[in-house]
Amino acid sequence: MNTHLTEILGIRYPIIMAPMFLVSNTKMLIAAADAGITGCVPALNYRTDSDFRAALDELKLNCKGPFGVNLIANRSNYRFEEQLNTCLEYKVDYIITSLGSPKAIIEACRPLGIKVFCDVINLEYARKVVPLGCDALIAVSSEAGGHCGTESYKTLIPDLIREFGIPVISAGGVGDHRGLEEKLTLGACGVSVGSPFIATHESPVSQDYKNACIQYGKNDIVKTTKLSGVPCTVINTPYQQSIGTEINWLEKFLHKFKFLKKYVKMLTYWKGMKSLEKAALGATYKTIWCAGPSIEYTHKIETVQEVVDRLIKK
Ligand SMILES: Cc1cc2nc3c(=O)[nH]c(=O)nc-3n(C[C@H](O)[C@H](O)[C@H](O)COP(=O)(O)O)c2cc1C
Repeated sequence: MNTHLTEILGIRYPIIMAPMFLVSNTKMLIAAADAGITGCVPALNYRTDSDFRAALDELKLNCKGPFGVNLIANRSNYRFEEQLNTCLEYKVDYIITSLGSPKAIIEACRPLGIKVFCDVINLEYARKVVPLGCDALIAVSSEAGGHCGTESYKTLIPDLIREFGIPVISAGGVGDHRGLEEKLTLGACGVSVGSPFIATHESPVSQDYKNACIQYGKNDIVKTTKLSGVPCTVINTPYQQSIGTEINWLEKFLHKFKFLKKYVKMLTYWKGMKSLEKAALGATYKTIWCAGPSIEYTHKIETVQEVVDRLIKK
């Protein structure tokens, strides 16, 4: 399983444990490195710069392989500059960029040798980021969990490879070895896997959330714009069904005013993230749980190592 990804990061298997808001933590990243893959944590999972630094200190000390940080590069992330500077100071191994322009990240990381992988959902967005000089594209497909794409990996991977000729990592829908092999056969140099790691012993989310990943499957995933204004996958729990998957009439109405749009978007995002946080970490009847169709492969709570075994063993 030697690929461009295993070579540039010096890992055993071409797998990134994908960054997951509220889910990824240092324990999971350390376990990922022990299992021969690499993990990436969203900087947003830390409320303050000192919490973020404490996590990076722990990872530097205990992670037996490379680890990455995910940075949201658009205006919704008002702590962007501080987070980027901390990543540079700690010289993290790689950064995964999502939303917004990765220009500032790529320019700052290149002189330090920090690799930058950019999330893209289509050719149009890839055309904007490739000239900036990213090290690889992450093809976020329509099968992905979280903020998913619109195109299937079946066309997105070959299209990106054909047009840009730079390494492509596939994100979305991988839960077993067949899924990994399929993406490598299509030409991807690795996969970024999120949802299958939610129900692990190392994961910090509530028991109810983990159990939901076991009980529900791919047919129970719906895409909602209610959380952030753009499609995000959630489990279709009875509560989720009761609130629907579209922003409410008032938000829709306010979106029509150009000068208000930005603030309405920020408010929708903030409200959505708060409701995700409540559901992910505590007991509540408002069960809005973010996960992708690849929870289909989750049948019990396992260790990170066991999930990795499932991905690498035939
Ligand atoms: C619960 C959850 C939270 C996520 N949070 C983030 C995030 O904070 N930043 C990001 O770039 N992607 C995020 N993603 C997307 C993942 O990084 C990755 O692209 C996706 O999980 C791949 O699809 P899969 O879940 O089928 O493996 C999230 C996905 C999930 C399921």
